[in-house]
Amino acid sequence: MKDGAVITTIEGIDHPIQQAFIDHDAFQCGYCTPGQICSAIGLLQEGKAHTRDEVKELMSGNLCRCGANQQIIDAIMDVKGGELE
Ligand code: FES
Repeated sequence: MKDGAVITTIEGIDHPIQQAFIDHDAFQCGYCTPGQICSAIGLLQEGKAHTRDEVKELMSGNLCRCGANQQIIDAIMDVKGGELE
């Protein structure tokens, strides 16, 4: 279905959000991390989320079963340059 399309996977990403995930302990088992990072980059590039609540809403389709959701939002807000709380 995506024949001929350019597809970037987590292995092809070099973005400050990756360091922010490390800095904020935004993962535990790592199962959700590639999807979280790809979604976070999409969110940052779209520029539609301006507040923590908007970031939470736009990331709500990505669930972290390990419970690192708050740290994930912290990492995104850190890269956005927004308030962590
Ligand atoms: S880090 Fe385990 S599901 Fe998110």
